Amino acid sequence: MKLFIASLVFAASALHCMAQAITPLPDLTGDAPPFEAVATNIVVAVPAASISTNLLGIGGVVGPLPATTNAPQPVVSDVNLHEANLPKPTSSSRVCFSSCHVSGPYIALTFDDGPHPENTVRLLKMLKERGIKATFFCVGQRVADHPSVAKRIVEEGHEIGNHSWSHKVLSAMTDAAVARDLERTDEAIRKATGVSPKLMRPPYGAFTDRQRDWAHRKWGYSITLWDVDSQDWRNPVASYARSRILQGTGPGSIVLSHDIHKSTVDGMPKTLDALKAKGFKFVTVSQLLALEQEMLSKLPATPGAQSYADRATKGRPAKVSTKSTAQAR
Ligand code: NI
Repeated sequence: MKLFIASLVFAASALHCMAQAITPLPDLTGDAPPFEAVATNIVVAVPAASISTNLLGIGGVVGPLPATTNAPQPVVSDVNLHEANLPKPTSSSRVCFSSCHVSGPYIALTFDDGPHPENTVRLLKMLKERGIKATFFCVGQRVADHPSVAKRIVEEGHEIGNHSWSHKVLSAMTDAAVARDLERTDEAIRKATGVSPKLMRPPYGAFTDRQRDWAHRKWGYSITLWDVDSQDWRNPVASYARSRILQGTGPGSIVLSHDIHKSTVDGMPKTLDALKAKGFKFVTVSQLLALEQEMLSKLPATPGAQSYADRATKGRPAKVSTKSTAQAR
């Protein structure tokens, strides 16, 4: 097992250490390159009195330790949550993100460009059999064409997001045209499912910084990108996408695939089972955001913790693609 220190914060007479424990696991898929395993976030508070003075000054992180005679008992909190105790999703302050900072092996699988009358239905069955919840970024005109499939997505506990009306490059359109496009899609989703999407994913990730802020302010959308791109549209061989997913996915990942491709759905049982075998737990994007909020709320309110929260709020650099491949993303 390897231990990576994510942050050190000195507060309340204790050193709060956030770390990731990485446990290598064997490659269980047979056709994927070696994967380094599941990381578990750990938060440990070590009383000042028990910290060796040798730690003083490491990287300038730890300042002089105050003398304490009644230091608190060590608090070791594994903040992994049981699925049944997931925090309730609320409206998120995140404008745009491609992954989340979570305490535990939680990931969000996302499926774009559907609903598809056959492939999405097959995928829903696979997810149900495994008790997996996912997020579907649907294209408005396909929702209008296949409302019963969209309805089933929501009825089976998955999240649904807005992926535009007809998969155009929104960054090249006027605000008025984008507003018509997104509102028309929201309306189709509402009509089919009874819910209004809180998430929006621009086709190809193509949305300017200004558009992201504008859409978040105007409709409250959290603009959801991804940190793992299966590129299933590029190569119809299922093992290609599976390999990319298994290599790239870590705690807090948002994984992009497409439920309109037969090959993607054909390969999904093996991919889902391999992710499960590695210990990942599957949540919707809004649940992933809620888990992040919960983790951040547990951090001590110190300048050091603030900087960690800042990093989490900003997330990893958002990826923007300008690819114009019709089927992509
Ligand atoms: Ni797309």
